Amino acid sequence: MSEWIERHRFAWSRNAGLRGFYAGEIFNRIVSGLGPGPTLELGSGPGFFAETGRCDVVTDVAPGPFTNVVCDALALPFADGSFGNVVFIDVLHHLGAPDRALGEIARVLRPAGRLLFVEPWVSDVLGWFVYRYLHHEDCAVVADPWSAPFRSRKDPLDGNNYLPRQLLEIAPTVWAERCPHLKNVETEPFAMLSYLATGGFRARGAPASIVRALSRIERRLPAALRRRLALRVFARFERV
Ligand SMILES: C[S@@+](CC[C@H](N)C(=O)[O-])C[C@H]1O[C@@H](n2cnc3c(N)ncnc32)[C@H](O)[C@@H]1O
Repeated sequence: MSEWIERHRFAWSRNAGLRGFYAGEIFNRIVSGLGPGPTLELGSGPGFFAETGRCDVVTDVAPGPFTNVVCDALALPFADGSFGNVVFIDVLHHLGAPDRALGEIARVLRPAGRLLFVEPWVSDVLGWFVYRYLHHEDCAVVADPWSAPFRSRKDPLDGNNYLPRQLLEIAPTVWAERCPHLKNVETEPFAMLSYLATGGFRARGAPASIVRALSRIERRLPAALRRRLALRVFARFERV
């Protein structure tokens, strides 16, 4: 197992607030959005979502504790229409060619199948500050977020946290041209102080009860305010 996976699994085992945040805010959104048919996970890494038992096939470009198929999201080794759902967490902002991955996802989904994911969200106020100054990955607007968001050959763990926002906010006409078979049906920015309170993948964060209380307060905030402050985004697409 690679060093970063061991580190993340250790932090996960020690940090109840982080586990509670993932279960209540991330896994729950994905599981609630699943449709019929088998589920494929991309970029599983340490396998926290795979461990919930909701995936039929678990993949990553590198081996991991729950990975059954090692493959690149840009060239999936599955037949057309094999899956009812494709899911991932924190993978899109690592991809060297999001258009190719989205094309592959559309190809392996059945008609009316679903793509569900959670990614970083660089909201104007809190998101920009946190991802620009407190996070180890890049946070930069790029000229071509579809095909070439990174300047050179990249490691799978190099990321740009701004990418999901850039891709999700691009005019629907551009989506229709670049990714005609995936229709965006929901984009929900969420999580502010609750996410920060987990401490991320550190062994210590705030107690789980505090993280839960913050999540409850944040869910009651008006949608416009959440959009300006959120640090995470959930998106749902349908195969058309
Ligand atoms: C930030 S980690 C997220 C891991 C896991 N989904 C989680 O939430 O803990 C990003 C993952 O994406 C994987 N990844 C990066 N580029 C990929 C690609 N082209 N195809 C498939 N997986 C990729 C990495 O190997 C890594 O496991």
